Amino acid sequence: MLKTERLRIRRFHESDLEDFELLIRDKMSSKYAPYDIPWPVDNFGDILVCLINDDAWHAVELIEKSKVIGFVVASRTEDETIRDLGFTIHSAYQNKGYAYEASCAFMDYFIKECGIKKFTSGTADCNKPSVALLNKLGFTKVQSLETSFANDSQGNPITFLASIYERMN
Ligand SMILES: CC(C)(COP(=O)(O)OP(=O)(O)OC[C@H]1O[C@@H](n2cnc3c(N)ncnc32)[C@H](O)[C@@H]1OP(=O)(O)O)[C@@H](O)C(=O)NCCC(=O)NCCS
Repeated sequence: MLKTERLRIRRFHESDLEDFELLIRDKMSSKYAPYDIPWPVDNFGDILVCLINDDAWHAVELIEKSKVIGFVVASRTEDETIRDLGFTIHSAYQNKGYAYEASCAFMDYFIKECGIKKFTSGTADCNKPSVALLNKLGFTKVQSLETSFANDSQGNPITFLASIYERMN
């Protein structure tokens, strides 16, 4: 478990189910949801079990409320020294610096304890909070592409511009 001034960054527990469901429902109702990999909005218990058993996924818990307000993930890649960073904070707790605080501690842990040499990440160019966070964390844009994760109500792909970022450690 990692601890910062305001946060615990720790593995998920079964008792996180209520907070986890609120977090994913909130994420999927965000205006940026069509530009992100879609999450199922049912079977939260089954999804949570997968995250509990995967050490890449960590809950972000607000110490003062003992409440899970987000997650950070360092997904494995084909190269065991490279991880792909992802983050989400519930909208009620955004703009308080929690994503930056959690991501810094989380990446430091993987660098020091797991020998990670590089992080990658990706986001839609229109997702300004995510782009700002990656820049603040020291990531550099290395590739731009057009992509799609979801279809509109007519079944047509929602395409958008996205960028791949990297941070060498
Ligand atoms: C992307 C996301 C994680 C950013 O979360 P966030 O909590 O707003 O980001 P930060 O931690 O960088 O905090 C943002 C602001 O909080 C402000 N802040 C307020 N109080 C603060 C404090 N005590 N300490 C530090 N910063 C504070 C900062 O000024 C910062 O703004 P700045 O960088 O312009 O100075 C969030 O918008 C999110 O979850 N979005 C939905 C999911 C998503 O899009 N994920 C990425 C998919 S690719």
